[in-house]
Amino acid sequence: MKHEKLPSGASAETPAASPVVDEVEANWQRVVRRRSFLRGVGVAGAVALPAGKLFAQSNNGLSRGDAALLRFAAAIEFIEADLWQQYNELGGQVDHNDNPNPGNPAYIAALQNLDGDMPQYISDNTDDEISHRDFLNAYLKSKGAQPIDFRQFEILRPTKAAGALGNGRLTNLQKLTVDTSWYFRYRSTQNPDLGAKFPQLINIANQPAIPLQSTTGSSTFQAIANVAGIHFAYIEQGGSSLYPVLALKATSLEVLRILISIGGVEIDHFSLWHDKMGNAFAQPLAPLSDPTTGLTFLDFNNQANQHNAQLSAADQKAGGQMFQTNLIQPEPCQFLSPDLPACSVIRPTLSAGGGPMATVQSFIADGLFIGQDPHFLQQLMELASEAEAAHRENDN
Ligand SMILES: [Fe+2]
Ligand SMILES: [Fe+2]
Repeated sequence: MKHEKLPSGASAETPAASPVVDEVEANWQRVVRRRSFLRGVGVAGAVALPAGKLFAQSNNGLSRGDAALLRFAAAIEFIEADLWQQYNELGGQVDHNDNPNPGNPAYIAALQNLDGDMPQYISDNTDDEISHRDFLNAYLKSKGAQPIDFRQFEILRPTKAAGALGNGRLTNLQKLTVDTSWYFRYRSTQNPDLGAKFPQLINIANQPAIPLQSTTGSSTFQAIANVAGIHFAYIEQGGSSLYPVLALKATSLEVLRILISIGGVEIDHFSLWHDKMGNAFAQPLAPLSDPTTGLTFLDFNNQANQHNAQLSAADQKAGGQMFQTNLIQPEPCQFLSPDLPACSVIRPTLSAGGGPMATVQSFIADGLFIGQDPHFLQQLMELASEAEAAHRENDN
């Protein structure tokens, strides 16, 4: 894991690593030369322009819709890579590439209470997101499309807790309001694509998921590590829904292959974190209260805690299934029609609940962009609306 700021894809500054990269770079340079309108804005991948200004028509075999899908996916991966890198610095497995960085020992210890292998899993997840971002950007460039580069928005102050590096960040992990309704969604027999709604498992509002300079006390470190574990699953369940939504809009088979292949790994991540976060709500860690914030993690395997008045009548009826912490594989639910048998599926897979706009709105509500430049949000929303508008164009 390298800690220097990682540029998007095979940028002009990146040394060519292989003939393939050479070819990608040469192709990109040809495109850059062709596009005189880009000269005035610094080009060479350094400026993230609104997608709508770049694609008046198809280019190099990538339809406008497919380019929009991959550009939005690259934007999300850029965001994921930034937030995972922060988790990795503080709680990941340290290796020789970490310059050397010992992480934050109290945070690592608290994460390891969720699972002894947490640091390794965090580092692996970080590597995956960086690879998603860089692959998507390199592929876009190879097709003559503009990659995503948000480096100009790495402006947020990092935590000053021990272990964090000093560079600016794209995402804010210090005041998260984590949506935990996905926990009920994956235990329910109801499907949000058919209108089902789910309450929060636990109300996490304005909480850090990484230690702050002022953080002290083992219970507070544990609460922060618990929030992180829940946030990991929240982020990856989002990717698990987003990629199928994007795939359903793809025109070329190769773009479809990219989307379902990366999407499968997001699901793999989600499943892992779903398992680990459950340990925050099970003995011996639970029950636990953060003495500074009052945030409380109940033992959800205790029948006395297996109730939530906001659950729907059907979900109330399901009883302990809605809470049991080792039910980490999706319960069969309604799919396509209530008249068909229940099916164990990713949900939602419709754009209204899991698509590009929904994803951006959810990330904003999460607090990831607190303090960010409004221009960043504007660019992100433009990318989302381009991807939202994409649709499958033929039967290739
Ligand atoms: Fe990813
Ligand atoms: Fe991910």
